[in-house]
Amino acid sequence: MLTERIGRITPSATLAMTAKAAELRAAGKPVINLSVGEPDFPTPKNIRLAGQRAIEEGHTRYTPGGGTMELKKAVVEKLSRDNNLHYDTSQILISCGGKHSLYNACQALFQTGDEVIIFSPYWVSFPDFVSVTGAKPVFVNTNPLHQFEPVLDDLKAKITPRTKGIIINSPSNPTGGVWSDEAVLKVLEIAQDANAWIFSDECYEQLTYDRPYISTAVLGENTEKVLTFQSCSKTYAMTGWRIGYTAGDEKVIQAMGKLQGQSTSCPCSIAQVAATEALIGDQSEVAIMRNVFKKRRDYIVNRLNKMNGVHCDNPGGAFYVFPDFSTLMGSNKKIQSSNDLSMYLLEQKAVVTVAGKAFGSDGNVRFSYAASDEDLSRAMDLLEETLTELE
Ligand SMILES: Cc1ncc(COP(=O)(O)O)c(C=O)c1O
Repeated sequence: MLTERIGRITPSATLAMTAKAAELRAAGKPVINLSVGEPDFPTPKNIRLAGQRAIEEGHTRYTPGGGTMELKKAVVEKLSRDNNLHYDTSQILISCGGKHSLYNACQALFQTGDEVIIFSPYWVSFPDFVSVTGAKPVFVNTNPLHQFEPVLDDLKAKITPRTKGIIINSPSNPTGGVWSDEAVLKVLEIAQDANAWIFSDECYEQLTYDRPYISTAVLGENTEKVLTFQSCSKTYAMTGWRIGYTAGDEKVIQAMGKLQGQSTSCPCSIAQVAATEALIGDQSEVAIMRNVFKKRRDYIVNRLNKMNGVHCDNPGGAFYVFPDFSTLMGSNKKIQSSNDLSMYLLEQKAVVTVAGKAFGSDGNVRFSYAASDEDLSRAMDLLEETLTELE
């Protein structure tokens, strides 16, 4: 009855774990949820107030399909201020979250017969975005000891005449890895030789802890085929407002807008007013949240690396760590895979994580540190206890 297209989609593993956590909580268990992909802070007050005003002032109707001119102008200003990227409003599309932006772009550019490079470990949605278009996701290895930067020989070996796109996500979900400028430049060069599009998913661009972030499109010389994707979700703790945006080639932006106009009509009018305030209003909360995340990153990486048989690279950004437990998996009969370990933590300790298998890496487990200091400390104690039990 259902189409073959729907059969190509796998349900999101991260959303599935969030649902499991809610189930346990409803049953009265004191759950520590480290599976979340969203900041644990409230949306800053100036943004909330802008949303309230938008309702009172009647911004409650359809807007232009690709977003209001005010918000597009705010995006242009933000990209210039923070990222040194200079676009015209005709090169901007506002969508219902960065996920929607990426989905639209895949639909506009990829089809059966195309191949799209995805670096592994990858965000769970990338392979599905690609395969639903009929194109084939092609996975390229990364170096877990060096911010999960691409293994360039593997990338070169996987390029074919069918390569239509390459998806970069730095800072990365699930690894938190932030690539060096050199690594990004090399990928840009390879993409240019292959005449492939680069998708730069920059939704964690404000969350880097060891050096300021540099956008992909600033780095290369010929970046006409780079599409930049950003979002209000993680930067401004606005995951539920659903505002993301794309900047790049006008023809692609128009095509994405056409698709969006016949699917979601327009992004939420109220959220667009709030997002305008987020992007060009007071930015001080962003730095405050970044500092809190940095402290938590330092804490959790330090705790993990003190545990026997665990290795965790110090990730430069986002709010995830992706430690390697393959030593344990190689020696323990009960825990043979990331799913086994993630389920053990869930069932025995009520700590919710996401198994690395969902991200293409079965030796790892993803922990989000978008959680209170108290929860992080308790979760690390429980993980330590688990490893001792399993010795
Ligand atoms: C790598 C990555 N890209 C894009 C998104 C999409 O976020 P949103 O649709 O809320 O903007 C997420 C959210 O988890 C993400 O982790």
